[in-house]
Amino acid sequence: MFVYYIDFFSIFLLTNISKLRYYGCTMKHLLAIESSCDDTSVAIVRLEKERTVLVCQKTASQIDIHKQYGGVIPEIAGRKHAEKILPVISAVLEEANLKKADYVAVTTGPGLMTGLLVGMEAAKNLAYLWQVPLVSVNHIDGHLHSIEVASKDDQSQQIQFPAVALTVSGGHTQLVLLKDHGDYELIGQTRDDAAGECFDKVAKILGFDYPGGPPIAARAEHGDPKAIPFPRPMINSGNFDMSFAGLKTAVLYHLKDNPPQSEQEVNDVCASFQQAIVDVLTSKAIKAVQEHHAASFLLVGGVSANKTFRRVIDEHITVPVLLSPKGFAMDNAAMIAYAAAYKVQKEKLHTWQNIQANPHWAITDV
Ligand code: KG4
Ligand code: ZN
Repeated sequence: MFVYYIDFFSIFLLTNISKLRYYGCTMKHLLAIESSCDDTSVAIVRLEKERTVLVCQKTASQIDIHKQYGGVIPEIAGRKHAEKILPVISAVLEEANLKKADYVAVTTGPGLMTGLLVGMEAAKNLAYLWQVPLVSVNHIDGHLHSIEVASKDDQSQQIQFPAVALTVSGGHTQLVLLKDHGDYELIGQTRDDAAGECFDKVAKILGFDYPGGPPIAARAEHGDPKAIPFPRPMINSGNFDMSFAGLKTAVLYHLKDNPPQSEQEVNDVCASFQQAIVDVLTSKAIKAVQEHHAASFLLVGGVSANKTFRRVIDEHITVPVLLSPKGFAMDNAAMIAYAAAYKVQKEKLHTWQNIQANPHWAITDV
């Protein structure tokens, strides 16, 4: 069934070649595709001499579908990406008033193989039809560059190296030392669940919708973060690794032993749980910045949208803190385009014949 969609989609693109023909344009543009999880996102950026400018971005979210299952179902995600990707590509080209781009970038890992394959096949088709280079982008590298996303009138933020980055999403929780663009060292990571995954699982236990971060954060605003002393796993482990699976289990047992008697008690569970995660992540981040003499600190990934977390990080980190601009913390194609722009500069390019998806692509190998 899934193969059928990809074949259909290749045929569709090839038979619509005339619509995608280039009519001439002097400015260099890059089209980026992100489909590694549950968002089909496509962005176009303009590559200027000194900076990259976001021209437009469109995202088709699958959240309403995966909500029913309490998490992302890879097979469904792949099919939905295949349905959405052509309309989203057409929509961004139309909004940017372009018939083609000069480069095509695509997330090729890490992520769900079903989604990565759809994005990569689309990118390969476009690169072939337009006869332009492909740029293969690591999803986490994209999140790191999300802090730079800026449209025409915005000031883009610059990373000061060495930098320490905390990437916290539904799939990853990693502390990364950035020596330069593309020169990264993994200094710590979760040994089990990602922090966002923990939010999602606790939300499911509480009967909230997927993704669980936003409803828990909303309830936590009205709760007491000191009400329940949930564990802070590995907070004093002496390294930069983390663990969140035990915290989720602690919440589960707490709720079994103390079923909430009021909305206030649910709010207290949410606030106490959120505080436990924030404490662990903040403590690791402070130590990483100190030990690695970081000149700046990046907080990226879906969980970085959490307001309490942003505030606590801002209060405790002594070097400039760079956050993704509003709307670019969760998965998006603009961040993939910004990471790709550095690869274009360094001529790290592919052709449609030699690009591959890798669901386990490590950030240290970009
Ligand atoms: O980066 P992202 O969009 O996708 C992945 O690469 O995983 O992150 C999604 C994750 C989900 O686990 C979601 O629950 C979490 O980010 N999230 C939040 C908040 N908004 C999204 N977690 C805590 N607080 C939030 N406000
Ligand atoms: Zn992500």
